[in-house]
Amino acid sequence: IDPSLDLVAEIQRLKKEKNAVILAHYYQESEIQDIADYIGDSLGLSQEAAKTDADLIVFAGVHFMAETAKILSPTKKVILPDAKAGCSLSDSCPPHLFAKFKEQYPDHLVITYVNCTAELKALSDIVCTSSNAVQIVESLPKDQKIIFGPDRNLGAYVKKKTGRDLVLWNGACMVHEIFSQDKIDRLKSEYPEAKFIAHPECEDHILAKADYVGSTSGMLKFTQTDNAQVYIVATESGILYQMQKASPGKTFIPAPPNNACACNDCPHMKLNTLEKLYNCLKYESPEILLPEDVILRAQRPIERMLEISA
Ligand code: 13P
Ligand code: SF4
Repeated sequence: IDPSLDLVAEIQRLKKEKNAVILAHYYQESEIQDIADYIGDSLGLSQEAAKTDADLIVFAGVHFMAETAKILSPTKKVILPDAKAGCSLSDSCPPHLFAKFKEQYPDHLVITYVNCTAELKALSDIVCTSSNAVQIVESLPKDQKIIFGPDRNLGAYVKKKTGRDLVLWNGACMVHEIFSQDKIDRLKSEYPEAKFIAHPECEDHILAKADYVGSTSGMLKFTQTDNAQVYIVATESGILYQMQKASPGKTFIPAPPNNACACNDCPHMKLNTLEKLYNCLKYESPEILLPEDVILRAQRPIERMLEISA
């Protein structure tokens, strides 16, 4: 790329020329968030992908999110800045192993967290995100037997909130399992007035300490409406940008990880850069392509989620 190129201006120009929409997750770099037409959590992004009238969807997020957009808008072209932007949680649940797991529970309904491959969604009855998982489980009859995957932490949280006995797949997110309880406790005593907020992909002992548990947009909304001045935030660091922007007078501290070498950045989300975004828009590549039958089988479970959370 020519270093004198004004990437932001070029992206805006190409976007208009191609009738494209840029959807970005809160965990993206701030410069990508700034250029997006819509920034949101997984639920908001899929709702947006389902209703957009753009011809081209540029998904600044990870692979499973762009796949979800393709499943919901199969006639549109869906591209993402870096095809290698995967997800450790999605990787923790290979579809062929999940299919075997599912066979052991033939009378169970399958709810999958959206952080999984299109093939896994195709093996499910209903998809959910962190903002509607509790609501979706509660919408089902009390005696309904349920398998929940792939995130064991969100699953345990939903079990606790609903009192239902879910069968859990043993998967987890590498970013949300690094937080140190001791260091969070120390920070809390340093800032006794601070509120501690966490994403439900965090482990149970961390969530037990939280003043608020919710999806990225849930946490953002909480910091906007709550009256504390300091927040310790246990999730990926990208969301702090919007929190700070929405509440410039407040202080946001990323929850400290166990290992001093670790950080709260998702290595997959952070593979996307403004340069890669520009290139993908220019060359309309890499593109998300899915087999027709996978799209058809994965559509219904996602649509059921959207109906329940409408
Ligand atoms: P939400 O934005 O839906 O809370 O999801 C968090 C996440 O880990 C996405 O990868
Ligand atoms: Fe996957 Fe975790 Fe990164 Fe979200 S933060 S994309 S769940 S690895």
